[in-house]
Amino acid sequence: MNAFHYHHDQLQVEDLPLADIAREFGTPCFVYSAEALTKAFTAYQNAFSALDPLICYAIKANSNLSILQLFARLGAGFDIVSGGELARVLAAGARADKIVFSGVGKSAAEMKMALEAGIHCFNIESVNELLRLNEVAGKLGLKAPVSLRVNPNVDAMTHPYISTGLKDNKFGIAFDMAFDVYREAAALPNLQVTGIDCHIGSQLTDASPLVEALDRLLALIDRLDEAGITLQHVDIGGGLGIRYSDETPPDLAAYASQIEQRLAGRALKLVMEPGRSLVGNAGVLLTQVEYLKLGESKNFAVVDAAMNDLLRPSLYSAYHGILPVEQHANLSPLLCDVVGPICESSDFLGKNRELAVKEGDLLAVMSAGAYGSTMSSNYNTRTRAAEVLVSGKETRLIRRRETLDELLANEKALLQ
Ligand code: LLP
Repeated sequence: MNAFHYHHDQLQVEDLPLADIAREFGTPCFVYSAEALTKAFTAYQNAFSALDPLICYAIKANSNLSILQLFARLGAGFDIVSGGELARVLAAGARADKIVFSGVGKSAAEMKMALEAGIHCFNIESVNELLRLNEVAGKLGLKAPVSLRVNPNVDAMTHPYISTGLKDNKFGIAFDMAFDVYREAAALPNLQVTGIDCHIGSQLTDASPLVEALDRLLALIDRLDEAGITLQHVDIGGGLGIRYSDETPPDLAAYASQIEQRLAGRALKLVMEPGRSLVGNAGVLLTQVEYLKLGESKNFAVVDAAMNDLLRPSLYSAYHGILPVEQHANLSPLLCDVVGPICESSDFLGKNRELAVKEGDLLAVMSAGAYGSTMSSNYNTRTRAAEVLVSGKETRLIRRRETLDELLANEKALLQ
C-alpha cells in the first residue's frame, strides 16, 4: 500500500491520519513516511544487488539530519555539494569514506574540510578546480582522490533548468577534452585519479539517455586504460524520475540490468547518486485553507503554505498533486488555483484543481519529499515549516518550526 492513502474519508500517512499531525504540529508542515523512505532505498539495493554499488544519496533533495541517519543506517553513502552539506552528513554520523563531493564551485576552504574528513572522492568539474585541489591537498600533505565529471553531451529530455549533460550546460568537463584532462590530473603530484562520473539531469522518465551516457564513459575508460590510467569506479549520477501525476518512471530493475550488462567483466565499482527517487514520494506538504476566494474568472483556495515552502511549481511550473485530507461526499468540487499568501503571482502550488474543500480544511501537497524543504526560504519573512517523520503510528518532530526570533536573530537594527 502507498504510505499516503485514504482510510475511509481520511488521508493517512502509514497508520496515522494527517489531520492528527496538523493538530499536533501545526501547518504548513512537511510529513515524511519512514516506511516509504526505507522502501525506496532498499528498492535500489535490491535492483543493483549483483553489483554491490555505493549508493550515495544526493542530499540536496532532502537533507534533514534524521533522514540522513535513516539512510546511513541502511548503508547509504552521500553525495554532497557544499561544505555545509559535508557538515550535515558528518553530524548525522555518516562515514566519510562513503562521501562523494560534487559541484562546479568548490572553494579552497571546502576542499580542505573534505580532505581532512577523508572523503571517498572529489567529483571535479574543471581543469582549474583540479589545479586548486592539487594545491590544497599539497599544503595538507595529502593525496586527493579524484573523479572527473564528464559531460557526455547527451540529452536527458527533461526540464531545461534541471538538464545538466548538454554541451551548453555549465556542468562537467566536455567529453572531447576529458582524455587530456585525465592525463593532466594523473601527472599532478597531490591527486590520485580514481574514477569517472557524470550526471545528465533530473526527473528523467526514460533511462535510455543514462545508459547512453554510461556507454560514452565506458569508451573513455577503455581509452584511458590503454594510456595507463586505470580507473577504479564509475559513478552514473542520479536522475531517475518519480511519478508526480501520470509519468511512468523508468523501471529500476530494467535500468539495473542494463547497467549490469555493461559492467560485466569489468573491475569497476559502481557508484550512483540518486536524490529525488529516494525521497520525493515519501513526503507531503500539509497546509490549511485560509480563504476561499471566488472570483469573476477564477477561484482561489488561499492556503497557509507558499512558494517559500515549496518552490517547484513557481520555478519549474512543476505539477504536484493536491489532495483533501478529509473527503467530503456532500460538498461539490470547486475549480480553483491553490495559492499561497506571498505577494507574487507566481506563488501557486497548483492550478485549475477540482477540490471539494471549505475554509479551515487541510490539503496535502503530494510528492513534496524531494526539493521541498531544502529549497525553502524566508521570503516575505515567513518562518520555515516544521518537518515530521512518521513510522507506523509514531511521530517524531525532525525539524521544529522556525520562530520569528530565530529569523531576526542575525540582523542588526541601526538603532537598538
Ligand atoms: N548528482 C548530482 C551531481 C546532481 O546535481 C543531482 C541533482 C543529483 C545527483 C540528484 O539528482 P536526482 O536523482 O535528484 O534527479 N531542484 C530541482 C532538481 C535539481 C537537481 C539538481 N541536481 C527540482 O526540484 O526538480
